Amino acid sequence: MQPFFPVCPVCGAMLQKTGASLRCERGHSFDFAKEGYVNLLTGNHKPGDKTGDSREMARARRAFLEKGYYRPLADALADMICTEQKENPAVLDICCGEGYYSEQISRALPCRLLGFDLSKEMVRLAAKRKLDALFFVANLAAVPLPDNSVDVALHLFAPFHEETFARLMKDDGVLLSVVPGKRHLFELKEAVYDTPYENDEQLPQTTLLTLTGTKKVSTKIRLDTPEDIRALFAMTPYAHRTNKEGLERLEQLETLETTIEFVIGIYKKSTVVSR
Ligand SMILES: C[S@@+](CC[C@H](N)C(=O)[O-])C[C@H]1O[C@@H](n2cnc3c(N)ncnc32)[C@H](O)[C@@H]1O
Ligand SMILES: [Zn+2]
Repeated sequence: MQPFFPVCPVCGAMLQKTGASLRCERGHSFDFAKEGYVNLLTGNHKPGDKTGDSREMARARRAFLEKGYYRPLADALADMICTEQKENPAVLDICCGEGYYSEQISRALPCRLLGFDLSKEMVRLAAKRKLDALFFVANLAAVPLPDNSVDVALHLFAPFHEETFARLMKDDGVLLSVVPGKRHLFELKEAVYDTPYENDEQLPQTTLLTLTGTKKVSTKIRLDTPEDIRALFAMTPYAHRTNKEGLERLEQLETLETTIEFVIGIYKKSTVVSR
């Protein structure tokens, strides 16, 4: 069976766990942090490069997702993975954030799970979940994993990188990519903006992968506390582009009923992969 474990980000050799580090045969070594994750970003990642989401964003995400508001999405993903009927699949949570979906999937079905994100803060929180999974810090553009090793790639609300996905997926692997639906959080936007707009609901375009189907998950949720409303807002892109008046309106919300809507794109590897 193809190993499903990170490779050395410096030389590409296999990594072995030795004591509190991962080590390759050439002596490159990566220590586990006390929370149990490992940083596999290489020196190619220069200071000033993007480092993924901040600690504040990671905390808001954790606070909100932990309440289970997006559980319908996690359940739909678990069902779709089960439909694939792969025994003990190798699941990769791409840009895993603070690990909410990793945890839901690993509870729902037996699988071998890895998750990575560029943000150390996110990966730290994911590792603190103490799942039977390895979380590591890495950049989407250079994921230190073997080619053709992933049965199911999960990709939620994150940048798309078709070369990486096509390289990592097994020939019969599947990528489940999630984008916000048209009406996602529309009532939240109505409460904050004068002229709210619908999302464009555009799934990623790619030639290396073929979109073989879509599934929509749509429901309403009720947020009962201002803290939950603020945590939700803080993890959206609107947090950085809302003016003072909008933020004041947000502050006044005590409860909120809003639509949540997601589109899951199901991608398989295109038959002819040109690399
Ligand atoms: C909106 S969050 C989604 C997180 C998670 N998938 C979820 O749904 O909870 C986007 C994530 O992508 C990560 N990210 C952004 N650019 C990245 C890159 N180049 N490589 C790896 N992760 C990246 C961010 O750090 C952040 O955790
Ligand atoms: Zn090495």
